[in-house]
Amino acid sequence: MMSQPPPSSEPSSPPSQDDACALALAGGGAWPAGVPTVQVTDLVAKYGSRVILNGVDVAVMPGEIHVILGGSGCGKSTLLKHMIGMYTPAGGHMSLLGVNFAQADEPERDRVLGRVGMLFQAGALLNSLSVRDNVSLPIVERTHLPPAVVAEMVRMKLALVNLDDKADLMPPELSGGMKKRAALARAIATDPLVLFCDEPGAGLDPISMAALDTLLVNLRDRFGMSMVVVTHELPSIARIADRVTMLDQGKVVAQGTLRDVQATDHPLVTAFFGREADDHDLGTSVWEALTAQGAQT
Ligand SMILES: Nc1ncnc2c1ncn2[C@@H]1O[C@H](COP(=O)(O)OP(=O)(O)O)[C@@H](O)[C@H]1O
Ligand SMILES: [Mg+2]
Repeated sequence: MMSQPPPSSEPSSPPSQDDACALALAGGGAWPAGVPTVQVTDLVAKYGSRVILNGVDVAVMPGEIHVILGGSGCGKSTLLKHMIGMYTPAGGHMSLLGVNFAQADEPERDRVLGRVGMLFQAGALLNSLSVRDNVSLPIVERTHLPPAVVAEMVRMKLALVNLDDKADLMPPELSGGMKKRAALARAIATDPLVLFCDEPGAGLDPISMAALDTLLVNLRDRFGMSMVVVTHELPSIARIADRVTMLDQGKVVAQGTLRDVQATDHPLVTAFFGREADDHDLGTSVWEALTAQGAQT
């Protein structure tokens, strides 16, 4: 009775790494530096008995834009789908925001996916809803925020993608570039820690593509989001990539900073980066030609 009980927590001690991850997941801070937001280890991916990826390692660090490269059909989208837990690895491990998906229960997966944004080609806007309602949809689905707060979040997101004055339009009234930016606003509606983009520039003219790239880089700079982006557009890669993973025949053939990867003398790397920077249409054909010849590794 003489002395006070010791305080139950030590406010001065820094949170452990696990606590910092849990706090970030709960929306209470940034993802801790040095801890991968996505970690794929020795991943084997199959459709039926057909092996698509065979021993792939990728660690996506907080705040980096990680570009996935490779020829058509080499498994880039398959890798992305494993990273978001859509498919379970046939071998190896995948952890997203510190959670091993194969072992997580559904509430835990939902909690993690609530902090992840996706800009996939198939995930088009709903044409029957206004731009505003498309962007508010994920917020309404995942939170219980009052309508005025949702409206403010949507307004902020549309301002971030420079569509503040297009909120009342319906998707068919938008240009291709605007549709992509509206889809991006929707993908970041709930302030994701990681954003996955599968060929975000596909179908856009070079100017709209550059505008989209600028937005991605700005989002990363402002919010420290990690991004995993599949693209084979050289100008885009040069604008956005911090690190690159290049896939071929189920394996990683080059990985590292853009500069390191460009310095690799793997024939696919040389062929890919040796293209003229303004040659937009050659990408796939170079890959196909080289892969068909079974480029010596
Ligand atoms: N759901 C699926 N079922 C069976 N095969 C698939 C499926 N999705 C993709 N594939 C095949 O797996 C290979 C890799 O596909 P994908 O990951 O989409 O390649 P990329 O995105 O690099 O072009 C392709 O040969 C494709 O036809
Ligand atoms: Mg694909």
